[in-house]
Order: sequence, then structure tokens, then C-alpha cells
Amino acid sequence: MPRKPYRAPAHWYDAENARHDVLQQDVPFFLGQLPLKKQSILELACGTGRAAIPLAQEGHRVVGTDYAPEMIDLAVRRRDAAGLTNKQLSLAVGDMLDLDLGQTFDWVCVFFNTLCNFTSLELQDRVFATVVRHLKPGKNGKGGRFYTDLFNPDPGLWAESEVTARDPYIFRSPDDGRTIYFSTDVMRSSEPQVQHVIHRYEWFDDKGKRKRATHEFDMTSIYPRELQLLAERHGLVVEAMWGNYDGSPVTPDSPRIIARCCRK
Ligand SMILES: C[S@@+](CC[C@H](N)C(=O)[O-])C[C@H]1O[C@@H](n2cnc3c(N)ncnc32)[C@H](O)[C@@H]1O
Repeated sequence: MPRKPYRAPAHWYDAENARHDVLQQDVPFFLGQLPLKKQSILELACGTGRAAIPLAQEGHRVVGTDYAPEMIDLAVRRRDAAGLTNKQLSLAVGDMLDLDLGQTFDWVCVFFNTLCNFTSLELQDRVFATVVRHLKPGKNGKGGRFYTDLFNPDPGLWAESEVTARDPYIFRSPDDGRTIYFSTDVMRSSEPQVQHVIHRYEWFDDKGKRKRATHEFDMTSIYPRELQLLAERHGLVVEAMWGNYDGSPVTPDSPRIIARCCRK
């Protein structure tokens, strides 16, 4: 089965994800990692600018890229509304599988589970090559740093061949105020360690007619040791790894894997 990449409906993205506590905690935790001196930061897969905007508002020089032009359009509108300039936050369409901006940064970041969208070792290698290409040179912790934040796989969920209507949720569509009924199906794919995810959206139009849309994508799990091996395979070392935003270490029950890597 061909890989189904993540391509969410951009106009619903922020409203759809507002329920996740992670999104209130990940940016402040990352900011806590930064030195006092203002940093240059590349955020790969920046989406609607959810993280890139507050990072730029803190005075860091931020570049955000995403392969979905509709996400970048929204991010540009949100940046402009926040009064940030293109110099403070530059946004561009770019695929993190082969991005080459021709510049290096103090930090390259991938937030909110996005690393799990790359479902094969070949794709993960391409993402890590992009990360390393954009990190400032320097050995033994002197160069740029890679920071990522993803879910710690729940073996119970991964053991099921199919879970339907998981985490039902209601949100309001920002464009027309409609109520959208949202739920998730997760099923095992034919690929090893890959799950097929279906986000289901349902709403009623002006005539009371039920409407439906879906967003389907594939997702892999990455365990802490796999992340460490991936980093090492690309000349990085994991300097620090946490299991949650209270700074606790990763355990089998931690919700997150948050890692900061430097060049070897
Ligand atoms: C879960 S969202 C995260 C968005 C944002 N980083 C955040 O934290 O809100 C995943 C994002 O990855 C982007 N994406 C997926 N594959 C990509 C690729 N190959 N290159 C660039 N962006 C990609 C999607 O368009 C989407 O905006």
C-alpha cells in the first residue's frame, strides 16, 4: 500500500487540535531549553505557526517551513496579525524530506508528533539528513541542536488491529461557526510498525443535511531507543530526554518523548 502522508484540513487545524494539553506545554518547555542569547531556529513542518509565532515573539529569529501551502498561508496571516515581520519569522513552503535552505541554525525543531509521519527508515533518514544539513557545525555540543517532541507509543493501542471512534470531540469551524463532530479510527496497516489513521469530520449543512469528510494518513511509532539510534546514525547524540513537561525522565508510562540532540 503506498504511504499516505499527513495533510490535515488547514482551516480546521487549530480548532481541531485545541483540546490537546500538550500544545499549551510544549513551547514553554522548549523555551526553557534556550540560552539567554537570542537563537536562530528552524521549525520543520511548522503548520499554522502555532509554535513558530511565540518563539519569534520571544525575540528569536525563526524560519518555519511546511510542505502544505495552505498551512503556510494561514501561518503568514497569523504572523502578520501578531505584528511580526518577515525578518523575525520567515515562512516558506518546503518538504522536510529534501529541504535545503543553504543556511544553518542554532536549533532545528520538529514539534507535536510530526516525526511519526515518516513511516520507513528511508524516510526517517531523509528527515534526519535535512535536520543535520541545517544545524550549525561544531563538535562535542558546540554546534546546533536538534529538538523534537513526540508521543511515547502506547503498546496497548498498537496491539489492537483496529480501534474505531476513538476520542470523540466537538469543535467549532472557525470559517463558518458550524459544529464539527470529530473522531479517530486507528487500524493496523500492512507495513510493519505502521498504523493507518482516519480522522472523521461530520457536520450539518444549512439544509440540515449530514456532511462528512475524512483525513487519512499513516503513522509510525518511535520508541526512545529508536530515536537515540536514529540520532546516532546521523552523527548526533541525545543530550537529554524527558517523558513529560515536568522534566521527568522517560518511562514506559510517560506520555511524551522529548529529546534534545547535539552533534557528536
Ligand atoms: C501534526 S502537524 C504539526 C504542525 C506544527 N508543527 C504544530 O506543532 O502545530 C504536522 C505538520 O507536518 C506537515 N508535514 C507533513 N509532512 C511534511 C513534509 N514532508 N514536509 C514538510 N511538512 C510536512 C503537515 O503539513 C503539518 O502541518
